[in-house]
Amino acid sequence: MKVEEAPNPLAEGLHDYRVADPAVMIIFGATGDLSGRKLLPALYNLAKQRSLPAGFAVVGAAIDDLTEQAFRKHASDKIHAFSRTQPIDDRVLDSFLSSLSYVKVDFGKLDDFKALGQKLQELDSTNHIPGNRIFYCATPPPTYQTIALQLQAAGLNSGGGFHRIVVEKPFGFDLLSARELTQTLQKVFAEDSVFRIDHYLGKETVQNILAFRFANSIFEPVWNTNLIDSVQITVAEDIGIEGRGAYYDKAGAMRDIIQNHGLQLVTLTAMEPPLAFEANAVRDEKVKVLRAIRPLIGEDIEQSTVRGQYAKGWVLGVQVPAYREEKNVAPDSQTETYAGLRLFIDNWRWAGVPFYIRAGKRLPKRVTEIRIQFKRPPHLTFGREAMKEVDPNAITLRIQPEEGISLKFGAKVPSAGLRIRSVTMDFQYMTSFLVEAPEAYERLLLDCMIGDPTLFTRADEVEAAWALIDPIENAWRSQRPPLEMYAAGTWGPEAATKLLQADGREWHRP
Ligand code: BG6
Repeated sequence: MKVEEAPNPLAEGLHDYRVADPAVMIIFGATGDLSGRKLLPALYNLAKQRSLPAGFAVVGAAIDDLTEQAFRKHASDKIHAFSRTQPIDDRVLDSFLSSLSYVKVDFGKLDDFKALGQKLQELDSTNHIPGNRIFYCATPPPTYQTIALQLQAAGLNSGGGFHRIVVEKPFGFDLLSARELTQTLQKVFAEDSVFRIDHYLGKETVQNILAFRFANSIFEPVWNTNLIDSVQITVAEDIGIEGRGAYYDKAGAMRDIIQNHGLQLVTLTAMEPPLAFEANAVRDEKVKVLRAIRPLIGEDIEQSTVRGQYAKGWVLGVQVPAYREEKNVAPDSQTETYAGLRLFIDNWRWAGVPFYIRAGKRLPKRVTEIRIQFKRPPHLTFGREAMKEVDPNAITLRIQPEEGISLKFGAKVPSAGLRIRSVTMDFQYMTSFLVEAPEAYERLLLDCMIGDPTLFTRADEVEAAWALIDPIENAWRSQRPPLEMYAAGTWGPEAATKLLQADGREWHRP
């Protein structure tokens, strides 16, 4: 029997019973990578859990000349290849595929958007949908504004029912372009109908940071500068850029990961308890954290940031090329594939506690974690000798893989003498709940259908994040600090080690 099918009393209440209103989801870029790898498989899994509303329909919209049949075949292939749950349930799949249609849309042609409107009206009447629409831009970011404006010109952003737009990170390239994007989107849609996806917020373990902190009473009293020495956030990937050179070479690790996923993890770790787990209450607290981060300017940038790029090397036993040898990457590219930084949050709770953040490609393994490093005990009751194998307490929130939480503490070694050693207490999702966490996109798509923006990024959050990143990017463009190479399969450039050494600390080896 598969683990998933086993009767599991601990899984009680794990099903998401929220019901969305009937709607049509229009996926722009429906034949692209994001749609095939993530969106269509996530929708199939929502169908399997019976979370999709009655009458729900999907319209694929892309530049390719495809028949409806061909699009359904494409969707079926992608679901077979990428669905989280396997094997595929043919009955569910057939019924899901029958809800898909396809319209060819050239984003430059208003007539194509009008034809799309026609299709939506047909679906409204056949499926009894009261005009509810979710426009999903699974397309390159430069198209978002064009799509929004064309929707407006074709009159598809208003009428009966709700009209929501979903865009993916990166939201803009810097503060200025992010503001421009926000202005255009807000001209066409109300802010609470703009759903900005940072898929990290859809990860179960990321949401669990808040549950861990605010559904328990024992952690919050120690969650501050009195007992915490430092915080380390690691987003390590063993993969390279996976054929995304054209995008990545303009973005780099700072824009690709730190500006969004990295800073989101900082906000959830550092925020004050919100009044309720409600969209604005949560996001208000997150914005406060971003605004309290001390901006890095001038010489701080050289002292507190690190940029590296992978040279050729070995990852998991396989020889891999240097970043500069990847397709669509300039042979003299200065783009960082590793970014590290030290930040301080200037508020009462976090005064003096450094937050070290690092993100890199082609590191030895894929792991995302937040490590809360506590201070040493104030007095060595058992003497230095007995304590020499003890590290200070640490809580590790393991976001992925092997999702879980561990607490490190000192325990007496069973023997006649008095020796104390570090041990860990572990919680693992898989063994406690006996189910695999759902894909981030399942949660986020459902939230969007329901109209709950709690796990989506608000415009002011995006801008506050760019305001911190812009000065760093500017200094980096003039080679301050210089780009440093690291061999693929290692933990990044030397400068990253030195960043912590300078503070008398070292990176945790996950
Ligand atoms: C994306 C980045 O946002 O996140 C990718 O653009 C990165 O470069 C990916 O690989 C990592 O996501 P995950 O869910 O695998 O940690």
